[in-house]
Amino acid sequence: MRNKLIAGNWKMNKDIHESANLIDELKHKVTTNEKVGVLLCPPYISLVIANTLLKDSPMKLGAQNMNDKDDGAFTGEISARMLKSVGCTSVILGHSERRQYFKETNEYINLKAKKALASQLVPIICVGETLEERESNVTDAVITAQVKGVLAGLSATDMEDVVIAYEPVWAIGTGKTATTEQANQVHKLIRKLVAQMYTWAIAEQLIIQYGGSVNEKNALELLSQSDIDGALVGGASLKADSFAAIVKAGVEASK
Ligand code: PGA
Repeated sequence: MRNKLIAGNWKMNKDIHESANLIDELKHKVTTNEKVGVLLCPPYISLVIANTLLKDSPMKLGAQNMNDKDDGAFTGEISARMLKSVGCTSVILGHSERRQYFKETNEYINLKAKKALASQLVPIICVGETLEERESNVTDAVITAQVKGVLAGLSATDMEDVVIAYEPVWAIGTGKTATTEQANQVHKLIRKLVAQMYTWAIAEQLIIQYGGSVNEKNALELLSQSDIDGALVGGASLKADSFAAIVKAGVEASK
């Protein structure tokens, strides 16, 4: 059985003091086991202190984005090597907010995924359809194009380290969750696409997270689905009790 991965995407929330307080609280409240990985993705400015605070914790550190270049004149950007130097093990790439507000394309996200893998960072690559796309019945076509685009040129060995997050855009921060059937159906499609691009063995080991209004109430049902291997949590990751409850649901679902 695949392990589960619960990740907290703090987005542009929490200054350095608030970040430290939340991590302290999470250290007291979150309990996990070897089958359930836990990842915190605070803003860049909190990564250094988070790395220090998480030293003896099973919770790992991730970033919310990175640039595809090694270094140079790219004002305001952060490289994979910089993320490694502050203890990041993973990086979220192609989140729908980055696609929407910063015009990131599948091709650009693919370049970042290659750089992350070359730098020994696990890329958590996000895909997901908008409400308009779902209502026009083009969800499968959109997901297919995104998966093929973001994974283009990645080797079978690369795929051992890739995580995909399915996040229907209409469910992010809206309180609307995809039904467990809707989510699991898309997760199955993603796994089938990866099997077609690689092999079933590779598709079977791929962690596919669900994201979009995951909370302590819906987590267990979502995480108990056959093809949902974790959660990428936004709003509910900002409250220690809620995030700890979601991790607990992951532990429960992995039994
Ligand atoms: P949400 O965000 O849990 O607040 O809906 C999820 C995400 O954007 O990763």
